[in-house]
Amino acid sequence: MTRRGPIRLGVVGVGALSLRGILPHLSQPDVADRVVVAAVADPIVERARAAATLHAIPSVFASMEELIADGDVDAVTIVSPIGLHFEHARAALRAGVHVHLNKTMTTTVAEADELIELAAAADRRIVASPGEVLRPHVARTRELIADGAIGRVTWAICGAAFARYHEEEPERADAAGGAIDPSWYFRRPGGGPMYDMTVYALHQLTSVLGPARRVTAQSGVRVPERTFLGRTVVTEADDNTVLLVNFGAGLVAVAYGTAAGSPNGQFGMGIYYGTHGTIDGLLLDDAPFEFPGRADTLDAPLGDQAAQNRLLPHVVGAHKMIGEAHVFEDIMQLVDWIRDDRPSAVTAEHARHVVDIIESGYRAAATGLTQDLGTTFRLDGG
Ligand SMILES: NC(=O)c1ccc[n+]([C@@H]2O[C@H](COP(=O)([O-])OP(=O)(O)OC[C@H]3O[C@@H](n4cnc5c(N)ncnc54)[C@H](O)[C@@H]3O)[C@@H](O)[C@H]2O)c1
Repeated sequence: MTRRGPIRLGVVGVGALSLRGILPHLSQPDVADRVVVAAVADPIVERARAAATLHAIPSVFASMEELIADGDVDAVTIVSPIGLHFEHARAALRAGVHVHLNKTMTTTVAEADELIELAAAADRRIVASPGEVLRPHVARTRELIADGAIGRVTWAICGAAFARYHEEEPERADAAGGAIDPSWYFRRPGGGPMYDMTVYALHQLTSVLGPARRVTAQSGVRVPERTFLGRTVVTEADDNTVLLVNFGAGLVAVAYGTAAGSPNGQFGMGIYYGTHGTIDGLLLDDAPFEFPGRADTLDAPLGDQAAQNRLLPHVVGAHKMIGEAHVFEDIMQLVDWIRDDRPSAVTAEHARHVVDIIESGYRAAATGLTQDLGTTFRLDGG
């Protein structure tokens, strides 16, 4: 059923991503007829209030529970630490509110199962980022491989490294209400580069190669301490993990989430090797390959994720100049789904499969035993 009027969205968590990307995108006038931010919630109320003032958001709450009870929202985007995603999404779905989740949906398959069941029972929608499947170069990579452009694909490698990204995000030091502490990125549950960054690589690999079958891994802590504004942050969650993912019929991929260092230095851009060629990020056998919109990104450095974000379907006009446009795209996927009954390709089932690869990978590393994956997904949804 088509909904009249804009979707009233609640934003749960007003940290680095909300300040840099979500709120600037959603307060642009061009989306006001489709979605408005009706409320924000954060235990650091001073920060939430400052953001609400800046973006003319009517309601501010100190908790998710208050936002759900009194915020009069149709949908929420969950921008809290990954370890809180499950409880926040469950509370929203129980209240009949649609849900967008940022990056890794949950930390376990059991949690993802529960959210998917709740959404089905309540006839609510879940969009779980990242929507790598929407990127034109990812879709083209899949087509090229299917068309035999690199012969028979043999193996692939894709991943990302923490480096010092979160300690140095510019929004953190001088935020209203005090510095935004990134230490949850280094704690369990939900910390570590797998849940934070390799999630992009796993969505991309599975968008290109399809569902995986088995996983094994090695994992540990390589950088035991970091510093944030002169304070020591202890690394409690593994920060150095390499997965070996089996897609069946002898096809394997390496997915890494390391403390530092990347083979091609291109965030989340895979290298796909075949019997007759190689796709490395945006290059087919060392030459740029065509995909819709490529001409618009020719000036950008190879592998610049922000340039590729500008090719996503909702990223038009002013949105091309605002950071984290891929997150805005995924939120608009949910908005379209609710308003126009237009299902998104960014499905909870795909996100659950990626959670399965990560959770099973950690189990493989802990036990020394290769794990069979119990989940799957269809690229056309479902
Ligand atoms: N930082 C990025 O580059 C980035 C990019 C894409 C997606 N994400 C995802 O967005 C989410 C938030 O990341 P971030 O970097 O903004 O984190 P952050 O640490 O900067 O902010 C998290 C915010 O959540 C708030 N919070 C903590 N407990 C809460 C609770 N119970 N209820 C409501 N809010 C609570 C914190 O006070 C903080 O303001 C994560 O899922 C992350 O994976 C982050």
